[in-house]
Amino acid sequence: MLITLEGIEGSGKTTQIEYMVAYLQQRGLDYIVTKEPGGTALGEKIRSILLDPDNRDIHPMTELLLYAADRAQHIREVIRPMLAAGKVVICDRFYDSTTVYQGFTRGIDIAVIGQLNTLVLEGLAPDVTFLLDLDPEIGLKRAWAQISDGSRTRSETRFENEKLQFHERVRSGYLELARQEPGRFIVVDASKDPAVVKEEIFHHLGKCLPRAETQSLG
Ligand code: TMP
Repeated sequence: MLITLEGIEGSGKTTQIEYMVAYLQQRGLDYIVTKEPGGTALGEKIRSILLDPDNRDIHPMTELLLYAADRAQHIREVIRPMLAAGKVVICDRFYDSTTVYQGFTRGIDIAVIGQLNTLVLEGLAPDVTFLLDLDPEIGLKRAWAQISDGSRTRSETRFENEKLQFHERVRSGYLELARQEPGRFIVVDASKDPAVVKEEIFHHLGKCLPRAETQSLG
């Protein structure tokens, strides 16, 4: 089973992944946690290029192809083998980030992103996607507080440096995707206390885990 988490900067994905891990451990499920970009050794190198705040001049097409390259490696080296081994795979961001950031927000044609997806994904799709929805003003404040206290690295702030408007487009792009695929997306109000958000996620996990497990293994 493939579970993905999506959301703007500072939406609390990392915290919720920690809770999800405890939940899966309690149930004795085999799992791995991974992320995009940077879910492989090669991907870590691509990540450092993509998130370096000094790389202001990356063209949107270059940016798109670097995310696609990271994903091509990640799927083949990590995600597919782990799913084949029957593990629950929790992935911090996946192709919805590309549709929203490079497509809706940077303005690359969604049809081009669709063509790339066909090449890169080979039909792979998440079983469930949690969208942590949050006002970007709150998200960015949280993200910059984490950068200031050192819990988030300053060397990965290229997107945090984007204007508020950029992050507002990201948020509405995500909500649009969730409207298009209500069967896959679960939208959670990430402005609530993390413990409340967690309960909501657990509620949905409890409903979908056994069913999706059967699908992945079948
Ligand atoms: P994060 O690991 O802190 O979430 O940062 C990853 C950044 O990369 C985040 O700002 C969103 C961006 N991103 C894209 O623009 N496109 C993508 O396909 C992915 C996976 C991430």
